[in-house]
Amino acid sequence: MLKVGFVGWRGMVGSVLMQRMQEDGDFNGIEPIFFTTSQVGQPGPDIGVDVPPLKDAFALEDLKALDVIVTCQGGDYTKEVYADLRKNGWQGYWIDAASTLRMEDEATIVLDPVNRKVIDAQLAKGAKTFVGGNCTVSLMLMGLGGLFEADMVEWMTSMTYQAASGSGAKHMRELLNQMGQLRDSVGEELKDTSSAILDIDRKVTAAMRGGDFLTDNFGAPLAGSLLPWIDTKLENGQSREEWKGFVETNKILGRGESPVPIDGLCVRIGAMRSHSQAFTIKLKQDVPLDEIEDRIAKHNEWVNVIPNDKDATVAGLTPAAATGTLNIPVGRLRKLNMGGEYLSAFSVGDQLLWGAAEPLKRMLKILRE
Ligand code: HSE
Repeated sequence: MLKVGFVGWRGMVGSVLMQRMQEDGDFNGIEPIFFTTSQVGQPGPDIGVDVPPLKDAFALEDLKALDVIVTCQGGDYTKEVYADLRKNGWQGYWIDAASTLRMEDEATIVLDPVNRKVIDAQLAKGAKTFVGGNCTVSLMLMGLGGLFEADMVEWMTSMTYQAASGSGAKHMRELLNQMGQLRDSVGEELKDTSSAILDIDRKVTAAMRGGDFLTDNFGAPLAGSLLPWIDTKLENGQSREEWKGFVETNKILGRGESPVPIDGLCVRIGAMRSHSQAFTIKLKQDVPLDEIEDRIAKHNEWVNVIPNDKDATVAGLTPAAATGTLNIPVGRLRKLNMGGEYLSAFSVGDQLLWGAAEPLKRMLKILRE
């Protein structure tokens, strides 16, 4: 039985992973061992099978005894532990949610409904390090995988609408607190349906700009606004999040030799945990829309094509509809005025599921096949 160590299982991504593994009975048939950075010796979590007391996440000897380590502890933990483990001769599988190792040669980015062949080829070569992709990238490929599989994409832009959860749990709380502050700033006026909307707007804007507005985590108002910058700045003017769109997509697809150009702007909006993206896709050929829809729909069992009409779109192609599910709705599919090779598309997906926990969960299952 594989001895599998879990680190960072209490955080947001880790908790979603634990929940999904329990739902699918994934703890049966492995020997799960839980690690901690602060509560060594305390009882392990209740996951329906017996587990030993929590072990120290920095104890190399305990880690070295494992066949697999699954970590959602974050990049600092990966930096501190991974290289030491490998230097000490540990040959086990490392499955990681953090971005630290993603672009290293020894690491394979996992998204098996899209790149199972790449994963299998890497396993056959003896690869031992598997890392989850950036959430917008994974969600984009789950939605548009059918077009990439058919090699139909000449280039693409992705304009994102990213949820607060991508920044972390504290940010989700801050977004809700900001929403509450805005509402409370005009509580009385909202009770009176005849109050002037421009007065309400003035007060809301003043609250948003006021010194009391809670912005410790985002650094600026998000509720009632948006933030067109995610992560750090690179020398070429891209944000790091935007850079990932190109490099990670092509690495996932194993297209190092003939990368598909991808770029765009990444924007934080006031959604809770589902990322949305608007795409402009330059196709290699003028392919009929029904063929495009068919390829997208048939690529995997989670993608669903939403008809390009208003009722279906507002019902099914939103964070409110996708959150908490594994569904990847893709819609607004139509040819653009620029010509038959130019396609628009819009997708939504839960960034904690396909964007984070699900590819790791599935990688662990692949190791058990
Ligand atoms: N970097 C993403 C975001 C999170 O900020 O939304 C998941 O990859």
